[in-house]
Amino acid sequence: MTIEFAHALIYVVDMDDMIDFYTDVLGFTVTDRAPIAGEGSPEVAFLTSNPDHHHQFAFLQTRKESGDSNNLNHLAFRVENLGTVKATIEALEADGRATKLAPVTHGNAWSIYFTDPEGNGLEFFCDTPFHVGQPQATSWDPDLNEDELTAWTEETFGDNSRFGPIGDFYSSQQELLA
Ligand SMILES: [Fe+2]
Repeated sequence: MTIEFAHALIYVVDMDDMIDFYTDVLGFTVTDRAPIAGEGSPEVAFLTSNPDHHHQFAFLQTRKESGDSNNLNHLAFRVENLGTVKATIEALEADGRATKLAPVTHGNAWSIYFTDPEGNGLEFFCDTPFHVGQPQATSWDPDLNEDELTAWTEETFGDNSRFGPIGDFYSSQQELLA
């Protein structure tokens, strides 16, 4: 089994300053930036330096205090396929120590969000066959088989303006980041 680290979501005070630092100083690229839940809600921005990842960081503008940050929302790990995501859910349920289990899909990922025994946020996910403009989030049914889930995902996100094959998205990122 390969468990690949994929991204971290961190709360930020000053979105423009943080994006400026991560892009100009560190070389990241912004892939999406929008209010997380419609007009007037806090902005979320996604940044990557890796053409194989839609984002390695997500910044959410909800942090009020200034000064050094010690906050972390969750760490995410990409696994090979849906079978591994489902096996992880079963293992978590069998173990019983994880809390806040939530199957969530962003259209481009089938995820299980949960917290470890000390309350740290984690996400294990696999890619779906699709790219979908972000942010997106809704729950998915782990009892569906892969064909059923793929059809449901296409139906749910197919009208998104950036909907398309995930391979096309990765190819375009490859060119953009080359
Ligand atoms: Fe995530």
